[in-house]
Amino acid sequence: MSVRFGLLGTGYWADTVHAAGLAAHPEVEFAGVWGRDAAKAATVAERHGTTAEADLDALLAKVDAVAIALPPDVQAELAYKAVKQGCHLLLEKPLALSVEDADRVVAAAESAGVHSVIFFTRRFQEPTADWFDAVVAPTEWHGGNVLWVASIFTPDNPFGHSAWRKEHGALWDLGPHALAALLPGLGPVAEVVAERGHDDEVHLVLRHEAGGASSATLSLTAAPPAQHSTVEFWGPAGIAESPPQELGPATDALQRAISALLVAVETGVPHPCDVHFARDIVRVLAAAERFLDRPRESRGERP
Ligand SMILES: NC(=O)c1ccc[n+]([C@@H]2O[C@H](COP(=O)([O-])OP(=O)(O)OC[C@H]3O[C@@H](n4cnc5c(N)ncnc54)[C@H](OP(=O)(O)O)[C@@H]3O)[C@@H](O)[C@H]2O)c1
Repeated sequence: MSVRFGLLGTGYWADTVHAAGLAAHPEVEFAGVWGRDAAKAATVAERHGTTAEADLDALLAKVDAVAIALPPDVQAELAYKAVKQGCHLLLEKPLALSVEDADRVVAAAESAGVHSVIFFTRRFQEPTADWFDAVVAPTEWHGGNVLWVASIFTPDNPFGHSAWRKEHGALWDLGPHALAALLPGLGPVAEVVAERGHDDEVHLVLRHEAGGASSATLSLTAAPPAQHSTVEFWGPAGIAESPPQELGPATDALQRAISALLVAVETGVPHPCDVHFARDIVRVLAAAERFLDRPRESRGERP
């Protein structure tokens, strides 16, 4: 099976991970790159052996699927457009920056009958991907925790210039990864409360529908020596800690995500990390944001 893919986006992640992954995948025909800057699209296309396409509609018309690596509000708009043209979706996290935008993509994907995979990196990158399948999913857990503190606003960090990350911080950038890690062990979230720390640091406490509880501590503005990322679960079987995440480009993981999308298309069985799952995550993040926007008097008891 060979699937014609287009890429929307020309930034660092689009270039080094999406374009490289699409170009290397044996079942993908990399049919073109679109970006708002034609010169950047030409550079990315040349680097990965495809062509730049200035007309987005023309690219969507000639492909079976799109990979999108753009800011989440832009992604939601273009994913909707792509679905209307019948394209399957390989998307980035978060799916959108509002529940309304996420719902719109989900409704369009349902009515077009297209498949989708959202690239929650740990769910596709070894050794963590195997850990989720072999350890997390089949075991009963009572609680979980994610600690993910990063330091992206340093001069040579490729993610530090991103306007939406500066505006929305760790809640919307790392929150999707944290929830995509906790939900396979503890199930859907019934309620969330949240608190802010220094800068964009945010703490979430989640009650899950199945009865467990979990927490997540997230920051993009930690001091560089404090950078850390772990996922833990505990329950009757003991405690399980995620293996360390691989450093470096996630091109192999992206290829696994492509393969997962192709399996969904071939079998008709939706992937667990599809737009429905990603929309559930947007709902939790939006609820946390509403909680944080409450007046302080209504969200804490003084000791
Ligand atoms: N799964 C992961 O682990 C992971 C890691 C990194 C990033 N990501 C995701 O990948 C996506 C892209 O991230 P990023 O780091 O490249 O930074 P970003 O700030 O989300 O995106 C920057 C890129 O988007 C383009 N862009 C911005 N506004 C646009 C608009 N209105 N229309 C068209 N293009 C627009 C920029 O174009 P110009 O170059 O012309 O300015 C630039 O190429 C995000 O969703 C992010 O969450 C995921």
